[in-house]
Amino acid sequence: MTVEIRPLAASDDRQSFRSGDEALDLYFHRYAAQNQFRYHIGVTYVAVAEERILAFATVSPATLDAEGLPSGKPMPPYPLPVLRLARLAVDALAAGRGYGKALVRHCIELAERMRDEVGCVGLVVDAKPAAADFYRRLGFEVIALVEGESEQRPVPTPCSCRWVRCHLGGGRLGAVAGSVHAVAPRKSAPADSKQR
Ligand SMILES: CC(C)(COP(=O)(O)OP(=O)(O)OC[C@H]1O[C@@H](n2cnc3c(N)ncnc32)[C@H](O)[C@@H]1OP(=O)(O)O)[C@@H](O)C(=O)NCCC(=O)NCCS
Repeated sequence: MTVEIRPLAASDDRQSFRSGDEALDLYFHRYAAQNQFRYHIGVTYVAVAEERILAFATVSPATLDAEGLPSGKPMPPYPLPVLRLARLAVDALAAGRGYGKALVRHCIELAERMRDEVGCVGLVVDAKPAAADFYRRLGFEVIALVEGESEQRPVPTPCSCRWVRCHLGGGRLGAVAGSVHAVAPRKSAPADSKQR
């Protein structure tokens, strides 16, 4: 079975997707398309096989108010541009087959392209507590919250500036910061996420 990762298309069947997380499913069924095609506040990438959506990830540009970088790299005192991984879910029937990991890798590659083309210091995620280990296993790191609160279920806004620290990973993009459960990749994952 060939699995493709590509942007959501307006004609995709979203309604049969079921991750088991009601809020994420509702978001995907009702809001992902309008946020992408009408409001342009986020783009959803889908892992698709034989026209069936197995997983999705929604990203949007954001900024990060950083007071310092754990890497020690000095940064100017401006809001730092980041790519925010706002939503990620895998269909329950496709769970455990690597599609979540493949979509995160795809998002890291997007952030790397942003870094090179428009400026971006990393990929940011507000991880739910139950998913924090999933991100850690991918090389993300928990960044301590210095100030601000994070909703456990991020609202579909393009930007949230609640993060206050981030870091860059060894020359490659991999910065992430966030709330109590936000995590960051130390290095980029292999670029094998286009097809699985
Ligand atoms: C969390 C989620 C995205 C993982 O997707 P998935 O496709 O099942 O995960 P993968 O198959 O890509 O797993 C990659 C690795 O992470 C591990 N993993 C998966 N889910 C995990 C979790 N919740 N906690 C810790 N590790 C997890 C897998 O065992 C696998 O390890 P391996 O590479 O050593 O074999 C999926 O379970 C999901 O949609 N959950 C509900 C929604 C959710 O919590 N989204 C995240 C919001 S922040």
